[in-house]
Amino acid sequence: QRKLRVAVLGGGSVGSQVASLLIAHGDELAARAGAVLEVVGVVVRNLDAPRDGDIPRELLTTDASALILQADIVVELIGGLEPARTLILEALNSGADVITANKALLATHGPELFEAAEQVGAQLHYEAAVGGAIPIIRPLRDSLAGDRVSRILGIVNGTTNYILDRMDVEGDTLENALAEATRLGYAEADPTADIEGFDAAQKAAILASLAFHTTVPLEAVHREGMTSVTLEQVVSARKAGYAVKLLAICERITDAATGVEGVTARVHPALVPLSHPLASVHGANNAVFVEAEAAGSLMFYGAGAGGIQTASAVLGDIVSAARRHVAGGPGVAESTQANLPVLPMSSVTTKY
Ligand code: NDP
Ligand code: HSE
Repeated sequence: QRKLRVAVLGGGSVGSQVASLLIAHGDELAARAGAVLEVVGVVVRNLDAPRDGDIPRELLTTDASALILQADIVVELIGGLEPARTLILEALNSGADVITANKALLATHGPELFEAAEQVGAQLHYEAAVGGAIPIIRPLRDSLAGDRVSRILGIVNGTTNYILDRMDVEGDTLENALAEATRLGYAEADPTADIEGFDAAQKAAILASLAFHTTVPLEAVHREGMTSVTLEQVVSARKAGYAVKLLAICERITDAATGVEGVTARVHPALVPLSHPLASVHGANNAVFVEAEAAGSLMFYGAGAGGIQTASAVLGDIVSAARRHVAGGPGVAESTQANLPVLPMSSVTTKY
């Protein structure tokens, strides 16, 4: 049977689970992918750090560039902008398909990376970059490609939903709940990204770009975090019939003043009526509502963070990439058409 070599860059919350599951479920995944998926190495910073999962010690390495040269499929789970960006470019230029869960990198350097992939006929997969285990990238890119999406409304950060839920249900403090979210592997390496809304803004930029077939730069996403939300406000909100949620909202709108059709994206805490399904999204779960002209309203729900949950989405991408290798086809390159302008927040008139 054909063999494909998989390099995993990063052996943290997600990377350790991806490598462990690839090894543990090797036979089953080989049958689905049409090729044996051999883990040729796992890149880490510290070879001696304790880590989850069951990765043979001899697979750990600190030499990412050497490992990339041996691989057919490279999985980037280091996070952050550098060295992740450089390593992904190295991998694409070496002819490997790349899988990443790195929304910070995609929201900042996505066009450069997709163009690099297109130039060499490789693919960049990123189902895990938004919504953890929830399939949302493929539905927006493929299943809804023939429809016109009008709005996306969702909870896209597991850490802040976990924190707000603990404040609401248990009267916990932001500090305690964040420490627990970090221990559970939900938070980013620097959790400021979660609580100040940067992570959700990155995801909003990715979702809006896909849904509206345009390029929404990260700088165009209005961002407010949840650090100013107090326990007293959460308690008062519940008494008044609301849950406080950090929402990402991406809309196709027409500027009333100019008549220009365009898109907006924003992230901020919001009062969600307890009767609304988003109010019932607990813990580190995420939920994304998509409203499309023909399809109507669709809801995607599930684990938005967590090592093994996110590994599910990464493994799906690995199997897709492997199938493409086996079929020998070029696949469909990712592209965006910058045909819709991003409008300023002053254009927003939506009422909730
Ligand atoms: P972690 O911080 O848990 O793991 C990062 C891994 O990368 C560690 O193994 C670390 O090594 C290694 N690493 C860090 N810097 C370097 C470097 N310069 N060179 C080599 N290796 C390095 O991150 P997560 O697993 O939580 O997240 C990985 C990616 O997945 C991020 O992009 C994140 O945003 C994304 N993501 C995470 C989710 C989650 O729930 N955790 C969900 C969805 C996406 P060492 O172990 O030695 O420190
Ligand atoms: N830190 C992120 C979150 C991980 O809490 O949602 C999943 O993207």
